[in-house]
Amino acid sequence: MPGHATTAGIAVDAPERMRDLGRELAALLRPGDLVMLTGELGAGKTTLTRGIGEGLGVRGAVTSPTFVIARVHPSLSGGPALVHVDAYRLDGGLDEMEDLDLDVSLPDSVVVVEWGDDKVEELSDTRLHVVIERATGDAGGTAGAAGVAPEEDERRRVTLTGYGQRWTDGALTALGAAFA
Ligand SMILES: Nc1ncnc2c1ncn2[C@@H]1O[C@H](COP(=O)(O)OP(=O)(O)OP(=O)(O)O)[C@@H](O)[C@H]1O
Ligand SMILES: [Mg+2]
Repeated sequence: MPGHATTAGIAVDAPERMRDLGRELAALLRPGDLVMLTGELGAGKTTLTRGIGEGLGVRGAVTSPTFVIARVHPSLSGGPALVHVDAYRLDGGLDEMEDLDLDVSLPDSVVVVEWGDDKVEELSDTRLHVVIERATGDAGGTAGAAGVAPEEDERRRVTLTGYGQRWTDGALTALGAAFA
């Protein structure tokens, strides 16, 4: 896939901040966008998605889809729906995803996928890959503006990489730089 844009690691030091990041990210998202979230259990993928849902103004609270693979949140304002996918148990990859028969058109929606690596890339020509890492110990952790270290176990580092022409307009870099 030609071209990609990557932010520097964004320090996100509390769950509320992860939601804020999701809300700000939502402002960049358009119908047909595929957002893939990578991070270990409890990294904050669903928390970020909650913020994306709030930013898009969709119906229903975003929760961990425990018994369903995908949940559709329609827009309350004529914008794109949010399709939230938990691909953890999606053994068959894309075919199985298409078999889900979602009552929505993916090209008209924003599709956010947890645990989708190597499974759902082909849903879209472009994709935004979000990697959430726990910032551990003293390795690269940043103190807050006031010089106060955030709660150790709440520190996350988020990197956004947009693949394809879609993401080469500088918006991601601007988001990363503004979210300090
Ligand atoms: N900086 C942070 N960002 C996001 N969540 C945080 C942060 N610090 C602490 N948390 C907590 O970590 C948990 C993240 O849970 P969440 O369901 O979002 O993770 P997940 O990556 O979706 O996990 P799973 O792989 O099980 O779906 C929440 O309990 C949240 O309050
Ligand atoms: Mg989750």
